[in-house]
Amino acid sequence: MSTANDVAKRIDKLREEINHHNHLYYVMDAPEIPDIEYDRLLRELQALENAHPELITPDSPTQRVGAGPLTSFAEVKHQVPMLSLSNAMDEQEVHDFDRRICEKLASDEVVYAAEPKLDGLAISLRYENGILVRGATRGDGSTGEDVTQNVRTIETIPLRLHGKGYPKVLEVRGEVIMTKSGFNKLNETQREQGGKTFANPRNAAAGSLRQLDPAVTATRPLEFYSYGIGQVEGKKLPDKHSEILKQLREWGMRLNPEVQVVRGVRGCLRFYENILKKRDRLDYDIDGVVYKVDDLEQQNIMGFVSRAPRWAIAHKFPAQEEMTVLLDIDVQVGRTGAITPVARLEPVFVGGVTVTNATLHNQDEIDRKDVRIGDTVVVRRAGDVIPEVVGMVKSKRPKGTRKFKMPVACPVCGSEVVKLETEAVARCTGGLFCPAQRKEAIKHFASRKAMDIEGLGDKLVEQLVDEGLIHDIADLFGLEKDQIAALDRMADKSAQNVIDALEKSKQTTLDRFIFSLGIRQVGETTARTLAQHFGTLDALMKAKEQTLIDVPDVGPVVAESIAHFFAEKHNQDVIKKLLNAGVVWPEIKLVPKEEQPLNGKTFVITGTLSTMGRDEAKAKLLALGAKVSGSVSKNTDYVIVGENPGSKATKAESLGVEILDEAAFLKLVQE
Ligand code: IVH
Repeated sequence: MSTANDVAKRIDKLREEINHHNHLYYVMDAPEIPDIEYDRLLRELQALENAHPELITPDSPTQRVGAGPLTSFAEVKHQVPMLSLSNAMDEQEVHDFDRRICEKLASDEVVYAAEPKLDGLAISLRYENGILVRGATRGDGSTGEDVTQNVRTIETIPLRLHGKGYPKVLEVRGEVIMTKSGFNKLNETQREQGGKTFANPRNAAAGSLRQLDPAVTATRPLEFYSYGIGQVEGKKLPDKHSEILKQLREWGMRLNPEVQVVRGVRGCLRFYENILKKRDRLDYDIDGVVYKVDDLEQQNIMGFVSRAPRWAIAHKFPAQEEMTVLLDIDVQVGRTGAITPVARLEPVFVGGVTVTNATLHNQDEIDRKDVRIGDTVVVRRAGDVIPEVVGMVKSKRPKGTRKFKMPVACPVCGSEVVKLETEAVARCTGGLFCPAQRKEAIKHFASRKAMDIEGLGDKLVEQLVDEGLIHDIADLFGLEKDQIAALDRMADKSAQNVIDALEKSKQTTLDRFIFSLGIRQVGETTARTLAQHFGTLDALMKAKEQTLIDVPDVGPVVAESIAHFFAEKHNQDVIKKLLNAGVVWPEIKLVPKEEQPLNGKTFVITGTLSTMGRDEAKAKLLALGAKVSGSVSKNTDYVIVGENPGSKATKAESLGVEILDEAAFLKLVQE
């Protein structure tokens, strides 16, 4: 049985822990536990305090969200406080929220604005007479940091409001986020240059916005979405939240395209399901959705509890980060010999699945994060991305943890492992002598986007190599049915299917064939570009490094890798064997530049296309003779606009450049 004394002790302990994590999160930009764990602590404290209100003290973390600002930025007092939101962790809590509102308003059905809950950081932008005069972080809600110089570098934040009729003073509130694609690129660059990598896009956005040097911030892919207002003077705004947002858009603020007006709790829950389904496809992280009573008069009636409005709630999604124990670290040998440390984990449910393995990237990353075997670690699984260990929790480190050291010999073939000065990864030097590399090369060759050999899965490839039936990709075409049928879990029929699939795969295309060779640095897009450019395999194989560099989108590193590959006698032999086995493709007619349909036309692509990646769209355009540029100018002929377009779409409009939506673009390239 718990005594009053036990409760008081637990409350003290919780406050201490929460304060510790607050400091790490708000001041240091370096949280060590996932949000979900922090929420659990805070909720437990809240529950205990609700049951024992006599134990609430003014300095409890529940009475003051966040911590003080860093001393390096000037302080900003928010005239209108920046609030936080209460959370609903499940449907029941959303129903409860709606019921409280319906009761208080004596209404059967309330109209809500439903918005994604963007996972970035809250910013207040102050416009005076239409000019951006200040940008401030939220801080503890009443005092934030002056980050004006940094927000000015964010393209999606207008320095001057559009149109007219705006109030003398207007504070726009919203979220600064980093896109997932921008985040991945940033981390890649940081990794290459030995800089600090970020655990997730939100930390990256926070770290970038709180750079003391705005020149650094300017290089970071930050974006801004507005979702509300603060202080307003000199004009009356509409009396609905959704209409205020529309008004803000007219003044040049970016709104999230998913925002909707919905009816009642059912409308809210439908919105939640919709956004949850879309979550992985959006190029920014969201950790839930927000419901806000749309009518401002009704908002007034509802009022506030401490720092959160009673008229709004955040309905959280399942967490994409969780904690678990790192049991051991193994290494995996990839197709190019790259040796990746893989974390063996105590099974943990995260991002909708049970995860037992996660990548640790490389030795440098392990060292930088100081991850040791036995540690409690934070695992992140977002969408289809391979789960990764993003950090460890120092306060949970037990005695006797072990450091990981990269093996000096390949665990599969025993060859030496080397790490180039210029690369982050260590590699097995065994090349195709290494069975692990050979297996990966063959799996790649057979994969759907390469030769597409149906039924030749990973398990079968491993057996074929282990049994010594094949040594390279060309050996596949010499296989006989009986050899396959004799293998574990194979039978006459399945063996025949593999033989048929092998036969069928011989009719391929040049770009697939180039891709399937597994040349380092040559992905699908580059393979397509090379096929279009050279027209024949022979021409590609004979091309000198300098000629390769001249191909659009092929840089020196890629060119060197290609030239190197075809200069290798072993590779030439394998290719000869493949051709002798009957691998063929239709001839490509090279159309002279002047006769290409899009010759001389310049395109810009912005936003996300639903049917293909940007690289693929770009390759399609290049293949038709077009130029693809990164920025819109008066020389641009067409701008292709996908979902969530950036400022390029607006710029195109103002310059009168022709805009194509995805359907129009597809029609154009198909014709
Ligand atoms: S409204 C009246 N709307 O969530 C409440 N906040 O927990 C003020 N956030 O600090 C916030 N998306 O950083 C609001 N569509 C959205 C949001 C959103 C993300 C963040 C924001 C805020 C925190 C509150």
